[in-house]
Amino acid sequence: MLDTTLPQPVRGSARQPVAVMIQVTDLHKQLRSGTRTLSILKGITFSVPAGEFLAIMGSSGSGKSTLLGLLAGLDTPTSGDVHLNGQAISYLAEDKLAGIRGRTLGFVFQSYQLIPTLTALENVLLPHELNADTKSPGGSQAEGLARARQLLSAVGLADRTDHYPVQLSGGEQQRVALARAFVLQPPIVLADEPTGNLDSANGQAVLDLLLDLNRREGTTLVLVTHDPAVAALAHRRITLKDGQILSDERSS
Ligand SMILES: Nc1ncnc2c1ncn2[C@@H]1O[C@H](COP(=O)(O)OP(=O)(O)O)[C@@H](O)[C@H]1O
Ligand SMILES: [Mg+2]
Repeated sequence: MLDTTLPQPVRGSARQPVAVMIQVTDLHKQLRSGTRTLSILKGITFSVPAGEFLAIMGSSGSGKSTLLGLLAGLDTPTSGDVHLNGQAISYLAEDKLAGIRGRTLGFVFQSYQLIPTLTALENVLLPHELNADTKSPGGSQAEGLARARQLLSAVGLADRTDHYPVQLSGGEQQRVALARAFVLQPPIVLADEPTGNLDSANGQAVLDLLLDLNRREGTTLVLVTHDPAVAALAHRRITLKDGQILSDERSS
């Protein structure tokens, strides 16, 4: 199903090999609700080696999305720290953070979050446009365009590049979002229930493509899922309960 012509990523020579790709240290998140303080995350510590596929599990409300938002630097912890690829990200100013995020992370959300006024191809290219200043050497406009086309082809949408999101099914929109997540060759991809809005056939197709891209690109993948069958495919499963780690187990 995948287009086997997709080139292997060329890592910038300046990037040092780092054994630990994600380091989370005693992460706490509290929110104020009226006069009450809600403890959403209560001291989360773990590290993820480069190349690992980690599933985050736990019942609804256990803190999975909050944790992923903190890993992505989309939210600031109350205390504790997140290091991505050796860099502390949790308390950086937005402009610095945006550059690191662009170079380091791809995201896939449950709601596809495509820009409705951009075509599929333009949506996939958007991270490239937004990171024009920070992307690695060799990331010219033409190369970005070629890679965006190759990724759309890899997810089976070569004939949909000029369609707008409203002209695409949910499964197709999520495949566009996958291509977008990988366009800058990020070392880390974060996915929050990426198949949660899809029926089982489309969900399976999106999951297969995500895992295939991930394997091919050698990314570190953190995938939030409710589905034990999906989590069973991961190298490792961390289960949250009430904002704490209930279990952390590796496949043998
Ligand atoms: N902005 C918010 N305001 C109040 N409570 C929130 C907010 N965001 C999340 N929560 C609460 O934090 C807890 C964890 O939420 P979340 O991280 O979305 O869990 P999950 O993704 O595991 O379902 C839930 O109890 C949720 O109600
Ligand atoms: Mg969630």
